[in-house]
Amino acid sequence: MSQPLMELRDVDKFFGSTKALKHVSMQVEPGKILCLLGDNGAGKSTLIKVLSGYHQPTSGTLMFEGRPTKFASPREARQRGIATVHQDVGSIPLMSVGRNFFLGAEPATGRWPFKSIDTRLANEVAVEQMQKFGLTRVTSGDQLVGTMSGGERQVLAIGRAMYFGAKMLILDEPTSALGVKEAAMVLKMMRIARQNGAGIVFITHNARHAMSVGDTFVVLIQGEVAASFKRGEKSREEVLNLMAGGEDMSELEDDLEQID
Ligand SMILES: Nc1ncnc2c1ncn2[C@@H]1O[C@H](COP(=O)(O)OP(=O)(O)O)[C@@H](O)[C@H]1O
Ligand SMILES: [Mg+2]
Repeated sequence: MSQPLMELRDVDKFFGSTKALKHVSMQVEPGKILCLLGDNGAGKSTLIKVLSGYHQPTSGTLMFEGRPTKFASPREARQRGIATVHQDVGSIPLMSVGRNFFLGAEPATGRWPFKSIDTRLANEVAVEQMQKFGLTRVTSGDQLVGTMSGGERQVLAIGRAMYFGAKMLILDEPTSALGVKEAAMVLKMMRIARQNGAGIVFITHNARHAMSVGDTFVVLIQGEVAASFKRGEKSREEVLNLMAGGEDMSELEDDLEQID
């Protein structure tokens, strides 16, 4: 087995008396998709904030590329190659796709303090990359982000993270607000990113989506790892039961039917 890209060892995260994460251990491997499953309040957001440098663990160790690591900020984590794609990605609908692609990483012309964004180049590269990601509907970098669908925006965000060299992708519910076709497009992009060697943490409520792409699975219940298993080790029913924590699963089953 290759060295994990990132590993949590016995991590706790407390907010006052709230124990959001308790003794969490998990591994993110390069070229694999780890699905993080859990109900509202289970600690998923807290966990991804620990992975992305937004929170420090209260105790326990975060290992990155084999070394104990403390990220001082999300910015530092980003610089080390950890990209987080939030659910509300591309929420600046009036920004052009070319500008959005290079947001925070604009190719410069001239020298400081006379730097300016090379819009023509930015647009050219952005469109070229989007064609590669399969976003063939986007043919001009001047097109506004608001004209892209939710799925296209997720694909764009994943693609641009890979383009800028992300080693690890944290995807927060990237498929949950999407229709069937759109979700399929995003899942496909995740497989492409995996093929390119990224270690992916895929947060989702949707067991079907998780099981269609996941290599490993971590189920959080009330801040604890309730189950941790590999693809093929559990049936869909078992996963649903775990996620529901023994509660009524009819709603989840309905979710499943939509995706077939
Ligand atoms: N910044 C914070 N301050 C205090 N409590 C928090 C904070 N963030 C999360 N929590 C608490 O930690 C628990 C886990 O929340 P969260 O990680 O958001 O779960 P999830 O994303 O799975 O819904 C909840 O009880 C939540 O209220
Ligand atoms: Mg959350």
